[in-house]
Amino acid sequence: MRMRKKKWADPYLQDHDDFCFSNPIDLKGKWKTLLNTKELHVEIGCGKGDYFNEMALAYPNTGWVAIEKDHSAAAVACKKSIEEYENLQNKRMIVNDASNLMDWFEEGEIDVIHLNFSDPWPKKYTHKRRLSSEKFLKMYYALLSKNGYIQMKTDNKDLFESSVLYFLENQFQITDISVDYRRNKHEEDAITEYERRFMDLNQPIYFLIAKPIKNK
Ligand SMILES: C[S@@+](CC[C@H](N)C(=O)[O-])C[C@H]1O[C@@H](n2cnc3c(N)ncnc32)[C@H](O)[C@@H]1O
Repeated sequence: MRMRKKKWADPYLQDHDDFCFSNPIDLKGKWKTLLNTKELHVEIGCGKGDYFNEMALAYPNTGWVAIEKDHSAAAVACKKSIEEYENLQNKRMIVNDASNLMDWFEEGEIDVIHLNFSDPWPKKYTHKRRLSSEKFLKMYYALLSKNGYIQMKTDNKDLFESSVLYFLENQFQITDISVDYRRNKHEEDAITEYERRFMDLNQPIYFLIAKPIKNK
């Protein structure tokens, strides 16, 4: 469901462009230095930002970059980060389309990519827009470090099953998988806004870890 456009979103994002970047090409290869970390996590499609804010708080030694293309959702996430969470040092946001990932990150720079409840794009002709489709997997493959991986969570069975195939067809191996992830609490992993809704409806959460197969 698309969020209603918020009039204050663009002015707010402009006023906080030292935290919410629009096109940070000058930070390519420099994120770990900026965030003072050895482990860089990137969440793509962060929505209103609960997940990355909670994870950055729970794991202060890791660095977090949340990407969101919808300006209204991004502004809510940005405002939440600044006004509700004290420590901003290990996180930043990018407000732009993740199709431009290669402009912002160096090959091998990212350790973990999080895909949380990505838009399912159910119609066949829209599948190429999925964040786990081939175009994106080729970028993730290049950007992930040797021991890096993708963590994906979704409520959508069709997206999940298709994504398993996309990963296997694009030089990834599935190293962990669950079709009812929240049957156990998994307190180490924060709950996203969408995840909370589906848990409240008693719907199962699908989960997987996919690692790029890199020989060198
Ligand atoms: C269904 S929402 C899920 C939000 C959040 N991750 C959660 O679990 O509650 C998917 C979000 O991904 C964002 N998104 C989809 N495609 C994107 C892209 N190519 N680049 C950046 N954000 C994207 C959408 O704008 C939307 O806010």
